[in-house]
Amino acid sequence: MAKLRIGILTSGGDCPGLNAAIRGAARACYEKFGTDKVQIVGIQNGYYGLINNIAHDMDPDDFSGILTRGGTILGTKRMQFKMMSVIGEDNVDKVKAMKKTYKDQKLDCLLTLGGNGTHKTANLLSSEGLNVIGLPKTIDDDIYGTDVTFGFHTAVDTATDVIDRLHTTAASHSRLLMVEIMGNKAGWLTLYSGIAGGADIIIIPEIPYDTNKIVQALNKRAAMGRTFSIIAVAEGAYDINEAKMKKKERAEKRAAQGYTTATARLAKDVQAATGIETRVCTPGHMLRGGSPSAYDRILATKFGVHAADLIEKEKFGYSVALINSSIGENKLSDVAGKTKFVCPDDQYVCAARALGISFGD
Ligand code: F6P
Repeated sequence: MAKLRIGILTSGGDCPGLNAAIRGAARACYEKFGTDKVQIVGIQNGYYGLINNIAHDMDPDDFSGILTRGGTILGTKRMQFKMMSVIGEDNVDKVKAMKKTYKDQKLDCLLTLGGNGTHKTANLLSSEGLNVIGLPKTIDDDIYGTDVTFGFHTAVDTATDVIDRLHTTAASHSRLLMVEIMGNKAGWLTLYSGIAGGADIIIIPEIPYDTNKIVQALNKRAAMGRTFSIIAVAEGAYDINEAKMKKKERAEKRAAQGYTTATARLAKDVQAATGIETRVCTPGHMLRGGSPSAYDRILATKFGVHAADLIEKEKFGYSVALINSSIGENKLSDVAGKTKFVCPDDQYVCAARALGISFGD
């Protein structure tokens, strides 16, 4: 009997836990079907590899020693979903090419590990008749339908460590330290690490800020005798005026003012208004690097194992998820194209406000 051929790809921005999920799925498949009855096919650099048929058969040894390794052994690449159905200058019909690779590699199914963009393409391929299963990863934790994505908690740990370190130097110098944390659309990472790191002010895209309110909060701290402050700002934050603008208009206005980020502008405005010496720290891609935390190793492993269960049941067109703390799955068509945002009345926002943390609103 021909071996069951399972393709795996990782797409979009990387995060800690991708290798743990790959290993979880592969090992569970070997246990379930037998190493001689299953062939894992590694597709290199996400959908780019699927379009261009860059794939290789993998051995059980390939999945050894990768549980703790950050990044992805398969490589990854960002490919815009909206370009997938567009035939560009290269004259390649990408959907047709991906279907051809799937057929040429004789795949029985395809596991796609990724974030929102990855899930949209996974859903597209599923609607085209391929047997696809998604696994939700991202440090942003903004995938709809899952309590949490793998990679998120490791990034929370890293960002919290950054805030902890900023505390000591902010205190020594009686400064205001602003830390810009990744998260373009959703503020989960800033919210969690802001609370864990004891930030005084948390600024997220879901709650547009008013600079005057931030100045008030800082002055209040100063009046209480606090000599330093920490503000955690999400990368995608914007103020109440920018909230009325489209993303492009916002970017153009900032560029005209000579700023690329909200954090840089906020630092200048707040220093001018309060007289407090201000510095900005941007950990950036460090938040995506490093070894996965124990939590993420376990979550990614469980997601991988569940993907193997779905393969066994021939349940395709789904994305693995943690739903009310239990492992389950959502239909790709139900979650693709949706984003999980922080609600302004989210329990974590309320808890932070109860402590006196300002959201600049
Ligand atoms: O999607 C995760 C993410 O880390 C975002 O928080 C961030 O805006 C983006 O990736 C950065 O992507 P890139 O690696 O392409 O610069």
